[in-house]
This record gives sequence, structure tokens and C-alpha cells, in this order.
Amino acid sequence: MSHLFLLCLLLSFLNFAASQDDVVMQALKSSLNLTSDVDWSNPNPCKWVTVQCDGSSRVTGIQLKQKGIRGTLPPNLQNLSELVILELFSNKISGPIPDLSGLTNLQTLNLHDNLFISTPENLFSGMNSLEEVYLDDNPFPSWEIPETVKEATSLKNLSLVNCNLTGSIPDFFSSETLPSLASLNLSRNNLHGGLPSSFAASSLQQLYLNGQQLNGSISVLQNMTSLVEVVLQGRQELTGTISPSFAKLDSLETINLHSNQLTGSIPTELTTLPKLRILDVSHNNISYCDVPKFSASVKVLTSGGGGCGESSKKSSIVRIILPVLVGALCLVGLGVCLYAKKRRRPAKVQSPNTNMVIHPHHSGDSDAIELAVAAESSYSHSGSANSDIHVVESGNLVISIQVLRSVTNNFSEENILGTGGFGVVYKGELNDGTKIAVKRMESSASVVSDKGLAEFKSEIDVLTKMRHRHLVALLGYCLDGNERLLVYEYMPRGTLSQHLFHWKEEERKPLDWTRRLAIALDVARGVEYLHTFAHQSFIHRDLKPSNILLGDDMRAKVSDFGLVRLAPEGNYSIETRVAGTFGYLAPEYAVTGRVTTMLDIYSLGVILMELVTGRKALDVTQREDSVHLVTWFRRVAASKVRDENAFKNAIDPNIKLDEETLASR
Ligand SMILES: *[C@@H]1O[C@H](CO)[C@@H](O)[C@H](O)[C@H]1NC(C)=O
Ligand SMILES: *[C@@H]1O[C@H](CO)[C@@H](O)[C@H](O)[C@H]1NC(C)=O
Ligand SMILES: *[C@@H]1O[C@H](CO)[C@@H](O)[C@H](O)[C@H]1NC(C)=O
Ligand SMILES: *[C@@H]1O[C@H](CO)[C@@H](O)[C@H](O)[C@H]1NC(C)=O
Ligand SMILES: *[C@@H]1O[C@H](CO)[C@@H](O)[C@H](O)[C@H]1NC(C)=O
Ligand SMILES: *[C@@H]1O[C@H](CO)[C@@H](O)[C@H](O)[C@H]1NC(C)=O
Ligand SMILES: *[C@@H]1O[C@H](CO)[C@@H](O)[C@H](O)[C@H]1NC(C)=O
Ligand SMILES: *[C@@H]1O[C@H](CO)[C@@H](O)[C@H](O)[C@H]1NC(C)=O
Repeated sequence: MSHLFLLCLLLSFLNFAASQDDVVMQALKSSLNLTSDVDWSNPNPCKWVTVQCDGSSRVTGIQLKQKGIRGTLPPNLQNLSELVILELFSNKISGPIPDLSGLTNLQTLNLHDNLFISTPENLFSGMNSLEEVYLDDNPFPSWEIPETVKEATSLKNLSLVNCNLTGSIPDFFSSETLPSLASLNLSRNNLHGGLPSSFAASSLQQLYLNGQQLNGSISVLQNMTSLVEVVLQGRQELTGTISPSFAKLDSLETINLHSNQLTGSIPTELTTLPKLRILDVSHNNISYCDVPKFSASVKVLTSGGGGCGESSKKSSIVRIILPVLVGALCLVGLGVCLYAKKRRRPAKVQSPNTNMVIHPHHSGDSDAIELAVAAESSYSHSGSANSDIHVVESGNLVISIQVLRSVTNNFSEENILGTGGFGVVYKGELNDGTKIAVKRMESSASVVSDKGLAEFKSEIDVLTKMRHRHLVALLGYCLDGNERLLVYEYMPRGTLSQHLFHWKEEERKPLDWTRRLAIALDVARGVEYLHTFAHQSFIHRDLKPSNILLGDDMRAKVSDFGLVRLAPEGNYSIETRVAGTFGYLAPEYAVTGRVTTMLDIYSLGVILMELVTGRKALDVTQREDSVHLVTWFRRVAASKVRDENAFKNAIDPNIKLDEETLASR
């Protein structure tokens, strides 16, 4: 009898507990505007999809991610006292994030990529089980990291990227206060002041503080012995030197201090770091004269800023392509030299338009640099390399399909500018007269299923932020059903391949040598920006003359970057996953499929050869042994010892090496 009574009591207690959560869950259901694929119709919330309960029907998990759900969260969410995981990321939920303090069981709070308009004042107060928090990319009004954060004593990962944070970084990150904190990501906010001294005693492995307005010394870093990745880049005012004590941080894999005010030099001790992969100290006031020799697996980035003569100002890619350029110049130089000999002219040839000086008898780096500088100044009067770069932080532009239909005359054939591997490009003109290029990506059901909408959007989001004088700007996009369209700036002079290989059909003039040189440098600069954008490396993977577009001023911009990542898998062989175009593929890539920035450098080399010779990378109209440009070019280069004329003959006959060019000094 008493047993039965107890059982009844227990049941009624359980029922009470369950109904307590029911009230909150019903409130949640009615405040969210659920999409049709989320079935929350059962009277028992424990039966709802994406809701988990424990044995006592208490709600332990709510995971509604990437659904495009609108609506708000109810204020009484904190009554779900057994909640362990709350995951609502990549939706369109608005309103405030309600007070969640006192949710002592909550371990994961993941609300990034929504439209929340505020965080609770007592953020994380009493939430001592909380391990992972992601609130990134919400349109909060400006706010400071509150003191209550330190009550979340189990915190491992805290990510508040692009959250409109201001004020200084609070000084409670020591392992005494937050002993488990391993990853702190505060990228892209407006934090001021210095790095707090509590960092020195923290257990942080990943520290991302790029894109703020921090100042003061970086010296605290040398005490952060757990560090694996540290990213402090982005036009900040951090000062100090790279201490030799950094060599003690033997877990370090990535040090990114790009664009700060650091001074001194790179200490040799850093070469002993066993796990180091990336050391980016470019755009600082560091002396890049004596960069110590790192092992081949370390990517060391040093460009811009600190003096070491003219050469240190040249960017790393420009340096990489220089040997190729030098080769090309030797060729031209030799041609010029031979010609000059014949004409009994001195070997030194000067052309007035470009101040270009060719010294055919010494082909050291310095000559090429001089040339690079001269060519640059003849086409633009811009300042330092820094002014090339504009990272646009504003939101991206969504353009409706109706607008795009109307500006392209309903995608009419007359408006087609070209057809590429990723779709057809149409010309369009907006009401205000602005011309645009609209790329309609090949639409098929597989596109939609292969790449999630959210993923596509986030990639687009990154691509729209890449702005550089030598990249074709992505202005906006449109997603409508199966349609995926990208809107680019319009490049009036078309592609480099038209100018290089089809100029006769199009009744144009062939490109002169200085144009070709300027174009090569433009492309190299665009590619370098891609390779060093933010702390990631974007690899183009399909550089070729038809992806290089020319503006009214005949300056070049690289297009179609990032599209390999957006394309459905089916666009290239699934077995090999090799993307790219024959003739431009680096041999090691074709064999191993490993994607590195060197891929693009190889393609760039091929493009340079094309610029010099005027021949296509693969030209089936040539003799069997000359079809492949790279092979043929190598043979010509090797034969120079025996046959000096071979060189001259390899140069594009349309480059005028005639008396007129030479005489016009
Ligand atoms: C909820 O979604 C429906 C259908 O998508 C829409 O008609 C309605 O306006 C939405 N309500 C709110 C408040 O967003
Ligand atoms: C939430 O819990 C508090 C007590 O913890 C209670 O007073 C209140 O009625 C509950 N609200 C709802 C909507 O369940
Ligand atoms: C940041 O906050 C300020 C003031 O609260 C607001 O004006 C601004 O729009 C916010 N910025 C973003 C990117 O949300
Ligand atoms: C959380 O931080 C750890 C350690 O830094 C890291 O390895 C892990 O990837 C992070 N988790 C997520 C989801 O980012
Ligand atoms: C920090 O956020 C950036 C986005 O700005 C992301 O690329 C990076 O991977 C994040 N780092 C960690 C450790 O989660
Ligand atoms: C950092 O900048 C602030 C102004 O934003 C200034 O008051 C402070 O003195 C600077 N600190 C250092 C160490 O330069
Ligand atoms: C860093 O460590 C050194 C000893 O290696 C110590 O003297 C110094 O005070 C520490 N700095 C900070 C900010 O804790
Ligand atoms: C760069 O450092 C040198 C000496 O180390 C100094 O004279 C110069 O003023 C610094 N330049 C800037 C812009 O800080």
C-alpha cells in the first residue's frame, strides 16, 4: 500500500517536472517561426525532432541548426534547468539572448550566425558546467566582455568573433580563474588597449585577436607556454620585438603577427621550434635583411615595411616569380642584344616609355627588381603596396533574381560574355549605368545537395570581403531555388587570352612587351593577396589567361578565385579530385593531388611563358614535340648554349624588337 503511494508520489513529481519543461518548450515553439521540416506537433516535447530528454522527461538538448528559422527566444528558457546543450546556430533568430544564468548543467551554447540583438548583462553567471560558447556573427550593439564570464569556470572554447565588442580585453584569463580555457577567439571586433598580463599565466592554446585596435607590447606571448596558434594580425598597433624566448613555446605551429608595428629582427632561435608551420611577420617594421634559415616545412612571410634596401619592399610572390621573369628577360635581353649587335648598337638598351633598363650581361635579381619597379611606375602612380588592400567588413549584397533577369535581358544570348568551367557569364547594366558581369553557376539538383546553403553563403561571405586592385571584385550574389548567381565588377577589355591569342580575330593590336610585363606583375600581386588573405591561404587552382581580365587601363585582375571550393564535386573527377586546366597543372599536383600555393605559382610561370612566347600552354597546331609549352620552353632554354638564335626565335614575333622600339630612346 505504502509502496503504491510512494510510486504515485514519484509519478506525480515526474509529471510535474515534465510539465514544468512543457510550459517553456511550448513557449519556445510559439516564439520561433519553425520551418516545415521541423516537426514539433507532438504534445510531448520529448518526442519533438532535435529535442533530447533524460529518463525523467526533462529536456537536456535542443539542437536546431542551419534551418533558417526566424522568431525569438522566450525569456523563461532558463527554467530548463537540466539543459546540457543549446545549439541554434545559423538561423535567423532575432531579439535578445535571454538570461541563461543559473543553467548549471549547460555545457554547450552555440548561437552563432543569427540576428540576436543583445547579450544578457550577467552573461554566464553561475554557469559552471559551460565548456563551449559560440556567439559569433550576431548584430549586437557594441558591448564589453562582462566580469561574469569568469564564473564559467569550466570554459574551454570561447568564440565571440565579429560580435561588436569594444573596451579592453579583461584580465581574467589566467589558469587560476579559467583553468580549462584552451581556445579564445575574439577576431574582428573593436577591442582596444594591450594584451592583458593574465595571458602569461593562461593555458590558452589558440588565441585569435586579429582585426582589432590593440596597442602595447606583445611581450606577454613569450610566457604563454601552451600556445599552438596565435593570430594577432590586421593593421593593429602592437609593438615590441619577437623575443628569442619564443623558442621556448615548443607547441607553436602558427604565429601570425602580420600588419603591426613590431621592430627588431627574426631571431635565429625560432628555427628550433619543432612544430612551427607558419611565421607571418609581414607588414611590420622588422628588418627582413637576415631572415634565418627555417626548414622547408615552415612558411615564412616577410614583406612590406621594415627596410633592407629596395628588395625587401617587394612581395614574396613577386620574389618567387622573379627568377622566371629573369629567365624571360634574359631571353628578350639576348634577343635585344643580338639584334643590337647586328645593328652595331651598344648592349645596354633603354626604352623611354618605361625607363626600362635591360642589362643582358648580368641577370641578377637586382636588375629584375629595377625592371619591376620601372614597369610599375609607368602604369600607375599609386603609393605603397599597402594601398592595394581593402578588406571590406560590411555585409554582403543579396541581389534578387528579378533584378538580375531584368539587367541581363532575361539572360539573353546577346548578353553572354563567356562560358567558363563554372557557368555562363552575362553582361548586365544597372539603372545607374553601372555595368556588371553575372555568373550563372551551372544549376543542377546536385549543386544544391552537395553544398549546403549555409556553407555556400559563408564562402561567398569570405569572397566578397576579398578586395584588391588586382582581383575582380565579387559585388553580390543571388540564391533562388536552384539558381546560384554571382555578380562581379565588369571588366571592359575582356580576357588576357583574347589579347594574347585571339587578337587578330578580334581586330586588336598585339600586346607590347611592357604591357605584358605589367600584366604579369598585376597577376602576381593579386595571387599574393589571395595566398595571404586573413590568416588563411586561398589557392586559386585554375589560373590561366582566360581567368585574367583587363580593365580600361589595360591593368589586369584575377577572376574566378574561390570558385573551385563552391563548385559541386561533380565538376571535376571524383576519383582524382584534381581541378584545373591541362597545360597549367603543376606536375606534382597532378600526381599527388596535394593542394599548395605552389600550384598557383606553377600556373603563373606557365602564363609568363605564354606572355613571352605568345604561344598557348597546349597548342595542338604545333609539331608533336612542341605541343606542350613548358617542355618546349625548357628545351629552348637548354639549347641556348649551342644556339643563341633559338632564344630570339622563341620570343613572340609580335613583340616588336625592331629598330623603332630600340631607337626610340
Ligand atoms: C513565419 O513564417 C511564415 C511562413 O514562412 C510567414 O508567412 C510569416 O510571416 C512568418 N512570421 C514571422 C513572425 O516571421
Ligand atoms: C520558472 O521557474 C521559476 C522558479 O525557478 C518559477 O517561479 C516560474 O514559475 C517558472 N516559470 C515557468 C514559465 O515555468
Ligand atoms: C556596433 O554597435 C554600434 C553601437 O551600438 C552600432 O551603431 C553598430 O551598428 C554596431 N555594428 C555592427 C557591425 O553591428
Ligand atoms: C575547442 O578548442 C580546442 C582546443 O583549442 C580545439 O582543438 C577545438 O577544435 C575547439 N573546438 C571547436 C569546435 O572549435
Ligand atoms: C577564429 O575565428 C576565425 C574567423 O574569423 C576562424 O577562421 C578561426 O578558425 C577561428 N579560430 C579558432 C581557433 O576557432
Ligand atoms: C593605447 O592607445 C590608447 C588610446 O587608444 C592610449 O591611451 C594608450 O596610451 C596606448 N597605449 C600604449 C601602450 O601605446
Ligand atoms: C614571464 O616569465 C618570466 C620568466 O620566464 C618572468 O620573469 C616574467 O615576469 C613573466 N612575465 C609575465 C607577464 O608574467
Ligand atoms: C622603424 O624602425 C626604425 C628603427 O628601428 C625607426 O627609426 C623608424 O622610425 C621605425 N618606423 C616606424 C614607421 O615605426
